[in-house]
Amino acid sequence: MDSIDMIPFHSISITGNRLGKGASGVVYEATCGSVKMAAKWFKCTQSFNREINVLKRLFSCPNVVNVVSYDSVTKIVVLERFGQSDLFDYINEKKPDAQDCIDIMRQVVSATRRCRDLGVWHTDIKDENILIDDANKSIKLIDFETSVDTTDLGRYRRLGTLEYNPPEVLKMYDNHFTYTEPWHVWTLGILFYDLIAGDIPFESPRAEDYEWDCRELDKMIDGLGINKQANSIMKDCLREQPCDRITLDELFARLL
Ligand SMILES: Nc1ncnc2c1ncn2[C@@H]1O[C@H](COP(=O)(O)OP(=O)(O)O)[C@@H](O)[C@H]1O
Ligand SMILES: [Mg+2]
Repeated sequence: MDSIDMIPFHSISITGNRLGKGASGVVYEATCGSVKMAAKWFKCTQSFNREINVLKRLFSCPNVVNVVSYDSVTKIVVLERFGQSDLFDYINEKKPDAQDCIDIMRQVVSATRRCRDLGVWHTDIKDENILIDDANKSIKLIDFETSVDTTDLGRYRRLGTLEYNPPEVLKMYDNHFTYTEPWHVWTLGILFYDLIAGDIPFESPRAEDYEWDCRELDKMIDGLGINKQANSIMKDCLREQPCDRITLDELFARLL
């Protein structure tokens, strides 16, 4: 892990131009000579530590953003600059066609399989946490600060972004769940729906009124007018019962 060659932090200039902002801090444009980078500043030490530790562990993992430098005093992680936008903006501006969506999903699924094999669940897969290069439609995952180890048997009330949490988590208001592969696969199903439809299927569901049944969701998926293969892949990610959902490896195989 410590063998990664980091660029000395003092040789990086951070500009005032903001690339993005999330719950945990702000991302600014940065440069080292003529090379463009992104500097993510954290409010919270715990989030900074998690992000840097996981990005070191996943260094050089295809479709995952690379860390190039960091500074523990200022709580800044410097990342390679990738693509022109995140998927949230891309979906709104470019309206990808069904084949583009499948190609993007294949890369996301492949990346999260590799993360799993390296012992990490991202837990906050969503359009804003994926960068895309418009030229060849390649993607990279960012934002690992809420990731958990695959060996983590901790029980969580929620993880990541509410609208991407599966029914077993949202419905059981007082229960806590371990982050497992079926939870992750549900999240990927929501991302797939978001890519195709241009928006997620449910806005801010609350546990107490979370009473939709999966037949409703199936009808919404049918209404998207996608081909049979994409339709069945999406439905198999978004099965109400965790044990009925497709596995991550099956999902990958069906996207090939
Ligand atoms: N390496 C990067 N290159 C270009 N833009 C980035 C990069 N990292 C983050 N961003 C932009 O900044 C936003 C917030 O970054 P993110 O790591 O998701 O922070 P947060 O934890 O606050 O959500 C992203 O949605 C993206 O638009
Ligand atoms: Mg984010």
